Amino acid sequence: MQIQLDSASPLSIETEALVTFAFEKDDPVDGPLAEFDRATSGRLQELAASHELTGKWLEMVLLHYPGGLKAKRLLIVGAGKQEKFDNTQLRRLAGAAERYLKGRSVKKIVFLLREPRQDAASVQLVAEGLLLGDLDLDKYKSEKKNQKSIEQASILGAGAGAAEAIERARIIAESENWARDIANEPSNRLTPRLLAEHAEKMARESGLEIDILDENRIEEMKMGALLGVARGSAEPPRMIVLTYNPPAAKPGAPVLGLVGKAVTFDTGGISIKPSKGMEKMKYDMCGGITMLGAMRAIARLKPSVKVIAVVPATENMPGGRAIKPGDILFSMSGKTIEVLNTDAEGRLILADGLAYARQLGATHLIDAATLTGAIVVALSTFNVGVFGSDEDFTRRFLDTARAAGEKMWHMPVDDDYAEVMKSPIADLQNISTADGGGASTAAAFLKEFVDDTPWIHLDIAGTAWLDDAKPWMAKGASGVAVRSLVDFTEKM
Ligand code: BES
Ligand code: ZN
Ligand code: ZN
Repeated sequence: MQIQLDSASPLSIETEALVTFAFEKDDPVDGPLAEFDRATSGRLQELAASHELTGKWLEMVLLHYPGGLKAKRLLIVGAGKQEKFDNTQLRRLAGAAERYLKGRSVKKIVFLLREPRQDAASVQLVAEGLLLGDLDLDKYKSEKKNQKSIEQASILGAGAGAAEAIERARIIAESENWARDIANEPSNRLTPRLLAEHAEKMARESGLEIDILDENRIEEMKMGALLGVARGSAEPPRMIVLTYNPPAAKPGAPVLGLVGKAVTFDTGGISIKPSKGMEKMKYDMCGGITMLGAMRAIARLKPSVKVIAVVPATENMPGGRAIKPGDILFSMSGKTIEVLNTDAEGRLILADGLAYARQLGATHLIDAATLTGAIVVALSTFNVGVFGSDEDFTRRFLDTARAAGEKMWHMPVDDDYAEVMKSPIADLQNISTADGGGASTAAAFLKEFVDDTPWIHLDIAGTAWLDDAKPWMAKGASGVAVRSLVDFTEKM
């Protein structure tokens, strides 16, 4: 989709659809709508009088050939109550308008910003919303119903800095879409080797350094936890490492390590999952792909901090050589782990991922993983669970996420949770002996591998995947956390 700025008058601009929004209030026909009402000899007031135009959230009022306007259609989207209208809603509103119109075969639209949202920040939100709304899940349909897409969007009514805002929106939203697109692939089309190929292609296009460790190098590096999980599968594992070097790196400057779980399919292994719903475990690599998507944007936005992404990728299968409950693994860090449940595999591969990121020089760590069903119990699909070892680092991340419009909630990971992860016969066991608190005990396990490096863990099991489409976004991978990670990296 091409996105550009325009400064023509809304009445005289020629387009397939002119889009703007109305607030829910006694007289929703205000601002630019008052002008459209006069041009159409009072049609909008008529619709308001019959309660067909109220401004309620995502109400769609579509007028064809509105006389007095050059546009072929006028779409007025309900923005809800003005005092509640925030950045997230503007982004979603743009996406919803785009999805509504592309379903009607519209190819060119003009989005008219109105008061009080006419600044560069609003342009960025609209552009992001349009791009995120564009992605659809019909790659494997012979008949591509959703293949229709908006080819050109112009944004009207913006102030200074708008061109840069579009550029920034494009980098971030296209990186989110890159991640969503790959995360939507089923496991037979996205093995660890194929994921590494995607990462390699992206790294080459983005100017990132890449190193992919195959099973031999993984063994040489003594990454026994990752190797243990991979044993049950005929597909070999990969450790994907991407590096972004800033233009002027200072010695002693912080290095951010982004570590992501990429289990391309999680059967549970020998502690096998029930078959009902198991197909969802094709999204168990979303944490790893989130980190790759963030790196794609970071490479283009060129922040001043060095960033290393480390993505352990494997299947979790119950093959004849699979690890069994009770087995003990030697992780790269030197710590031994008693595997009591082979379905708690994410924390095993992250243990080696976190240790390797530290060995490569990361001074600050963030990991993302579809780690536990327990976080879905705690927070449903509404919030990412955030765990951290350093109060200030964690607080700054949470503030950034809030500003980016990604809902995240601070969860505890104190010593009590660590205590119940100790094994009687090894250093650690991979599930806890306590009742409940499964998201926190999983986090406490990870914390054993970061030492005193400031660290944040994002459990995205509930938020990485939409079971149903939203008006502004297709079902499937959500791309959650990419935006916050990119903003946070820039602020470091
Ligand atoms: N991949 C799952 C976690 C998960 C659950 C992701 C639901 C998305 C939706 C993870 O590997 C897992 O199986 N965790 C177990 C841990 C348990 C055995 C301690 C879980 O949460 O049930
Ligand atoms: Zn599992
Ligand atoms: Zn898993």
